[in-house]
Amino acid sequence: MLICPVRGCQQALAPADHRLLCPRGHSFDVARTGYTNLLQPQDRRSKNPGDTAAAVAARRRLHDRGFTAPLLEAIATLAAPTAHDIVLDAGCGDGFYLGSLAQRLSCQGHGVDISVPAVDAAARRYPSCQWIVANADRQIPYANATFSLVLSITARMNAPEFHRVLRPDGRLLVAIPAPEDFIELRGATRDRVERTVETFRRHFNLLAHHRVTTAADLDPASVLDILLAIYRPLQSTPPTATHVTFSLDLLLFAYGGEGATI
Ligand SMILES: C[S@@+](CC[C@H](N)C(=O)[O-])C[C@H]1O[C@@H](n2cnc3c(N)ncnc32)[C@H](O)[C@@H]1O
Ligand SMILES: [Zn+2]
Repeated sequence: MLICPVRGCQQALAPADHRLLCPRGHSFDVARTGYTNLLQPQDRRSKNPGDTAAAVAARRRLHDRGFTAPLLEAIATLAAPTAHDIVLDAGCGDGFYLGSLAQRLSCQGHGVDISVPAVDAAARRYPSCQWIVANADRQIPYANATFSLVLSITARMNAPEFHRVLRPDGRLLVAIPAPEDFIELRGATRDRVERTVETFRRHFNLLAHHRVTTAADLDPASVLDILLAIYRPLQSTPPTATHVTFSLDLLLFAYGGEGATI
């Protein structure tokens, strides 16, 4: 259930004539493409926070060319969503992961991202899900225990809020870049698994860790899209075709608390 984001309100939001309305009269327009912007002025640091339209479009093209399909399959296998799940994707971007899972399984999907271009793209592409502009590092605008599955795919890590909005029988899947992710373009990065488990330890128990790795021979346009998607400043010389590795560490957690096991 969506709740009003106005500070100190948090009443339920109900649909009313192309708007969402709380009992105290706070009102939020539903955009023509179907998303709702619940971002409060105090919850953003810039006028256009989050991913730019260019980064969103670049990531979308990479998804559309199929490079990330093996990552989606690995996420689906580990999280094992069913038609009964109510799923939150925190930092959903253009909605590829949540929208694809919801289309496939007919589960209920709710995506939150701070970027208007990202949420707008998600709403256009996957109208059966609910898409919300909000800052997932602050209060996630849903009532306690709304979801049975929370996804965070190379995105936000708000452990207390994920815990609050998750049901006690729910699970959390966190995907983080593995050391070899895009190694050809940015060199090896550090292994973040231990630090990420630590971030969630107070609220969640680790159930499983799986590393998924895939690779593709990319044409220069796709290499450029990766650079845009990972926020790399563009070089003066155009990129050349390259073999590129995609690699994510997937961490599946159960709702829990202190005393987590690895
Ligand atoms: C690396 S992208 C991942 C997008 C998507 N999960 C995917 O894997 O395709 C990170 C996303 O987090 C969003 N983001 C950044 N800060 C955020 C915040 N405070 N709250 C919600 N979303 C945020 C960005 O706009 C962007 O869409
Ligand atoms: Zn309100």
